[in-house]
Amino acid sequence: MKKLSDYPSEEPVLVTCGLPYASGEMHIGHLRTYVPADVFVRLLKKMQTEVRFVCGSDTHGTPVLTKAEKEGISPKELYQKYHQHYLETFPKLHINFDNYGTTDDPENIHRTLQIVEKIQEKGYIYPQKLESPYCPNCGRSLPDRFVRGECPYCHADARGDECDQGCGRYLEPGEILNPRCAICGSPTKKVERTHYYFELTAFEDFLREFLENVEGTKNAKNYALGWVNEGLRDWCITRDLDWGIPFPGDESLTLYVWVDAPIHYMSSTEQWAKKIGEPDKWEEFWLPGNAKLVHYIGQDIVYHHCIFWPSMLKASEYNLPFAIVASGMVKIEGHNFSRSRGYVVWIQEDYLDKGLDPDYLRYYMVAATSQTKDLDFSWETFRDKVNNELVATFGNFIYRALHFTNSNFGEVPEGVLDDALRIQIEQSVDAIRDAVNQYELKKVSDEILRLAAVGNEYFQANKPWELVRNEKEKAADILYNAVALVKALAIAIEPIMPRTAEVIWEQLGYQGDEIHQIPLDDALTPPKVGTKLPKPKPVISKVEDDLLEELENSFQNRIKKAKQAESGEPMIKDTIEFDDFKKLDFRAGKILKCERVPDTDKLLEMEVDIGIEKRKIVTGLADQYDPDDLEGITALFLVNLEPKKIAGIESNGMIIAVENKDEPGQWVPVKLEGVPPGSKAA
Ligand code: MSP
Ligand code: ZN
Repeated sequence: MKKLSDYPSEEPVLVTCGLPYASGEMHIGHLRTYVPADVFVRLLKKMQTEVRFVCGSDTHGTPVLTKAEKEGISPKELYQKYHQHYLETFPKLHINFDNYGTTDDPENIHRTLQIVEKIQEKGYIYPQKLESPYCPNCGRSLPDRFVRGECPYCHADARGDECDQGCGRYLEPGEILNPRCAICGSPTKKVERTHYYFELTAFEDFLREFLENVEGTKNAKNYALGWVNEGLRDWCITRDLDWGIPFPGDESLTLYVWVDAPIHYMSSTEQWAKKIGEPDKWEEFWLPGNAKLVHYIGQDIVYHHCIFWPSMLKASEYNLPFAIVASGMVKIEGHNFSRSRGYVVWIQEDYLDKGLDPDYLRYYMVAATSQTKDLDFSWETFRDKVNNELVATFGNFIYRALHFTNSNFGEVPEGVLDDALRIQIEQSVDAIRDAVNQYELKKVSDEILRLAAVGNEYFQANKPWELVRNEKEKAADILYNAVALVKALAIAIEPIMPRTAEVIWEQLGYQGDEIHQIPLDDALTPPKVGTKLPKPKPVISKVEDDLLEELENSFQNRIKKAKQAESGEPMIKDTIEFDDFKKLDFRAGKILKCERVPDTDKLLEMEVDIGIEKRKIVTGLADQYDPDDLEGITALFLVNLEPKKIAGIESNGMIIAVENKDEPGQWVPVKLEGVPPGSKAA
């Protein structure tokens, strides 16, 4: 029997997020996991449920190793750099974990060994010979991301352990067709060696039952049930790599990254427990019992969380996931996410560095679409969400209500909460609670917008600006109700926009950071009459057209650059603003005299007529031109370049010449026949 609602929960809840690989910076795809999880955690707190929130950096496996090789540093140096990046970036987005460690921490290594040894003891791990790809050119074996080839299921180009561009299936080592080395492209040889397998097939019945009952989103459950019904294969848990946790039983092998990565959900909880001085407290969550484990992930890692992970937990006798919440994938302007093709939005460089408010992006990630649908990001839809919803509906009501109340009363005026409004607020509180129980947070933002629209209508219909002239008491009552709605909205928006909620809370005359502890039910309690109201300011600002254009341009530039990089053409430099271009003053100049600069190889000294005056300009073309070739011709000059001393001679400008693509290093001065000196460039 399914309970009517799981939240608020009597039992403590542990929320985890898919660990980011510490091999690159945070991007908008990551936020599809981290933002909803953080919002969910804040909502549980608002529903007075005890909740802990842990995550960490995924440091093992081939993603970190291949990147470290590319950068020419050790895998440890590499992951430390990106781990630091994540530690610093999460708080900037108001995503606050109770603990954020790494999979290379001693606690994780210890817990991983304990679990693997337990599973060995129970007889679920066995050795078997495996033929896997080896690159004769690089002289190494090619696990996971070191190999690419053809997916045996859908025939898309795939990674060694995942069909990343096609059907998304997990692939076993040795399974990929036509393998080639991902580093050098060579075709591979096969090598045989003994690996170790986890007997997943022994868990089919368990998984079927587990998946029937697990909470969360339908996509996670249904995909996974489909895979179980297709029939599982045993899982190779070792790799021929020297980066990772050594396999206990054959230390020349390391454990597959997907063994030790989810175990960090557990060891991160242990780290938190140690930190608060109650080292055994992690067991409350992880020993079978009463806590609820809720995993937030993206749809790309459902197999690992719904098949591998529950089986490992079951085999090692730990608690099982209560809910698995899988989001749809983030796409960029209709394209699959791809760093190499430029379809990516970096959180620091493309968002925070532009001075954009993290709360807007949080709102967007929640409000753009329902949890399980793909989210197609574009700056335009971002702008529309901010301008049409946050500014026009939400922010507008809050500012109107507070501004009008402040300027006419300066405090919360006398009034009684209107029954119709109370019902509206109650409806919102119920809808928010339902949304949490359905793991469908878009319903929270929809509900907040609805309530703000109710506020706008209430304000408009009651015309307090007319009442205030001769029916001041009536006006007071209307504004009392409006302020009560503002309070409800501040409480409801806090999980999604924590910083904005603080600001509104201050404008209601409270201590801003208290808002994070205020329970959802307080939305039904209007503020106290007589509370002084400070002068409000609008809490949301529009995304203006020129900012949108700048964001759009830098995105398009990245795609262009990626295309150029792929085609091998030299890259076009970053776009400059037209205003910057206008600063350059190009003029036609007639070369009156041209001589070699003594004791130099390349330099020519020219006297140039640029119309209004004659100038001395030095150029480095002597290895290609005789002074006589240039004397008498008219060429294009940049005439407002700062003067520069070259071989002791002050040069007052620069000749514009073009490199001959077929003979690199060969510069041709643009010849302007028949153009009078001093003519300006367009
Ligand atoms: N390290 C693994 C997860 C191990 S969990 C024990 C991993 N790392 S990741 O950096 O690629 O992704 C981290 C989280 O972000 C995962 O939950 C993943 O699903 C999510 N996303 C990364 N890119 C994404 C999109 N483009 N769209 C939606 N979510 C995606 O996977
Ligand atoms: Zn496939």
